[in-house]
Amino acid sequence: MKRIAVMTSGGDAPGMNAAVRAVVRTAMEHDVETYGIRQAFAGLLNGEMTLLSSREVSGILQRGGTILQTARNEEFKTPQGQRKAQRILQEHGIEGVIVIGGDGSLRGAMALDRQGIKVVGVPASIDNDIWGTNMCIGVDTSLNTILDALDRLRDTANSHNRGFVIEVMGRNCGYLALMGGILGGAEIIVTPEDPPTMEDVALALEDAYKRGKSHAIAVISEGAPYRTTDLADYLNSRHTGFEIRITILGHTQRGGSPTAFDRLLASRMGVAAVEYLLAGQTSIMVGLDGREISTVSLADATTKPRLISPQYFKMAHTLSR
Ligand code: F6P
Repeated sequence: MKRIAVMTSGGDAPGMNAAVRAVVRTAMEHDVETYGIRQAFAGLLNGEMTLLSSREVSGILQRGGTILQTARNEEFKTPQGQRKAQRILQEHGIEGVIVIGGDGSLRGAMALDRQGIKVVGVPASIDNDIWGTNMCIGVDTSLNTILDALDRLRDTANSHNRGFVIEVMGRNCGYLALMGGILGGAEIIVTPEDPPTMEDVALALEDAYKRGKSHAIAVISEGAPYRTTDLADYLNSRHTGFEIRITILGHTQRGGSPTAFDRLLASRMGVAAVEYLLAGQTSIMVGLDGREISTVSLADATTKPRLISPQYFKMAHTLSR
């Protein structure tokens, strides 16, 4: 293999740039050129790709977002779109592609593999919803952003005897809510996996009030079975003792400079992805298994559900007393 390409796809995640940098520099070490595909599968279909030199990936390690940008695309989902992508890659002499992104992006990678292009996936999504890796790139940074917000909100909640309903991201996965809630000292956590009823949330807040707490924090995942505003209205109508305010952290959770953990994870995954690709592997995703970099098939990574260990749900309950 003499020429490969790299793209970042799906929602951006802090650490994507560190992974791109690791891909480019590892490929150079093996005398392989790396093309950077702009705006993911949409850009691929428009032939938007340029050769990345070591200088072009210099100074990006600490930057959030993705210098290659990312986009959602419908055309690539069609068989014609996938054949067109294969043709464009072939015209550019590209034999292998590294796709850095979430579950939808990894499904796109599989479609490229079906067109005869060798692909390796790198899991990057703040949701941490991908099977086959303990952690995705971006999760740690996002969690730290959430904790910073929770700490600040507790300060103001304390001062006013208020309750806060704080919504965090996670389309179908409550990982950010659960970990953010445990580590940020929430009174109750609402995840899609194990949601308390609104009544349960009200009882938890009432209980906290009766025990003399001067604040109460409910962390709710965006994928919860009821809306954040409905929960807040319900809590206000129940007179738990706390006047309720809402904060939706939204896309602040996706930005920011990657933490040391994310820089290291992204660098290790980027290096490994190139090495597996150059060794002739395809349709695999690199992952973190314990402390080691591992691989799983893209088929498994995109179909098996990523479950959160039940011990964390139990722990959340125990520590919120
Ligand atoms: O998948 C990552 C994620 O941040 C989800 O948590 C969220 O639901 C979604 O992306 C938001 O996507 P967009 O940026 O397209 O609104």
